[in-house]
Formats: sequence, C-alpha cells, structure tokens
Amino acid sequence: MIEKIKETASFLAEKTGFNPVAGIILGSGLGGLVNAIDIKHKFEYSEIPNFPVSTVEGHDGRLIFGFLGGKQVVAMQGRFHYYEGYPLQQVTFPVRVMKLLGVQTLFVSNAAGGLNLAFEVGDLMIIRDHINFFPDNPLRGKNIDELGTRFPEMSQVYSPRLMQKAKQISIQNKIRFQTGVYIGSPGPTLETPAEYNMFRLLGADATGMSTVPEVIVARHAGMECFGISIITNLAKPADADKPTTHEEVQNVAQVAERNMTLIFTELIRGL
Ligand code: HPA
Repeated sequence: MIEKIKETASFLAEKTGFNPVAGIILGSGLGGLVNAIDIKHKFEYSEIPNFPVSTVEGHDGRLIFGFLGGKQVVAMQGRFHYYEGYPLQQVTFPVRVMKLLGVQTLFVSNAAGGLNLAFEVGDLMIIRDHINFFPDNPLRGKNIDELGTRFPEMSQVYSPRLMQKAKQISIQNKIRFQTGVYIGSPGPTLETPAEYNMFRLLGADATGMSTVPEVIVARHAGMECFGISIITNLAKPADADKPTTHEEVQNVAQVAERNMTLIFTELIRGL
C-alpha cells in the first residue's frame, strides 16, 4: 500500500514540480471552486497510476494543481464514494498521496441533507465534528506506521483554529453560516423519515455519503482538516407540504458554493 502511495506521489511530483500546502476535495456539484484556481496541471483520474479505476459511468474525476490564495494547492474535482463499490482504503487513497506531496491542510466539501430544524436549503455549514456511520473504517487492517499511529486520537478532528478564522471571514463578508455535526453513512439510498429522525437523535445536524473516511485518513496522517457542508435539502417533516424545486436548490447551492470558495480561498491565503 505505502509503495503504491509513494509511486503515485512521485509520478505527480515529477510531472508537476508541485509541493502543495493545501489539498481540496470538492463534493458533488461543488466543482465550481476550480474556476478560482490558477490551474497549472490537470490529470484525469484514469491517467494517474494506482488511482481507483472508475467503475461507474460518467465519472468525471480530475486532479488539479494550481494556485489559490497565492498558495500551491491540489484539488480533487469529484471524489470516490463508498456507494460506488470502492473499499474505504481506495476512497481515501488520494488523501494519502496528497500527504506525501506535502499537503498539511485538507479542505473538504460536500452536499448534505439538513437535519437541524433551524437549517434552510442553501445553508453553508462549517463542520465542527463528525459521526462515522459507515460500516467500516478506512484504517482497518495493518497500520501504515510511516503515516501515523495505530489508534489515532479524534478529539479535535476539525481544526479549531481554521473554524474560528472561517467564522471571522464569514462575518466580515456577511456570509450566513451554520456550525454542526456531519454524519457520514454509506448510501446510496437517501434516508427514510425514520432514519432522518434517528440521525437527528444521534446528534447530527447534516447527513451525507462522504467526507468522514477522507478526514479520518487525513487526521491519521497528522493533517489539519477543515470542512463545509452545503445543505441541499431538508429532512424536516414540515417540508413535505412545501416541496423545494430543483431550480431553487440549484440557485441556493450556487450562492453557497461561491461563499464556500471565498472561505476556502481566504483560509488558504492565511496558511
Ligand atoms: N442524505 C444523504 N446524503 C445527501 C442528502 C441526504 O438527504 N442530501 C445530499 N446528500
């Protein structure tokens, strides 16, 4: 495993000459941040040695190297999901490659369902903690001692320093934000009403099918993490008689995505 990670990192380092300080993983429909990057190199996932082989149709994954906020970054436009059939070790492989490329801080984004009754569609949630509801853990199996310890500590997974800065940036730019707990579950089904209720009772504010595995692997390797969920739909029962149109969701998601881009960019500028 570590040999494969090293091989992929060497390939990318040689092709790009990059030593990115930040890694960015963009969630479904949130690839627009890429337009803010001054792109220097672009790779289809299929061109990258050892990257998971796409098993699904229309997988438009790209790894992008460029400058954002004046810093060298590497960004994944599209991620690998557990529901596509990849084991979590493959889902998280790119994060380990990022680590070997020199990335110290990982930025993650996702589209999520809102569980917190105070949330609205289009809200941007700064992730302050997560619940791993996947039936697995990406660190299961032989530990890669070169990357991190067997029993990684998980008390402050999301960087308090970056959360604080993100809140300041949001206030300065009049961006409405929420803070909350993200629960990651396997999918691909969306939740039943009973499951949404259960997740809310468990203490989660937003639910999705990603992020948790990548962040676990990043923390294992000592990377600082920061995450944002864009709330694309609400789980609250009262919403049943007031359906949101796809268009409305798209519009609010676009505003939230612009705001997310601003927050990520300013945080990276300050790294
Ligand atoms: N549930 C799970 N994943 C999601 C949702 C949801 O309601 N919305 C966007 N991703």
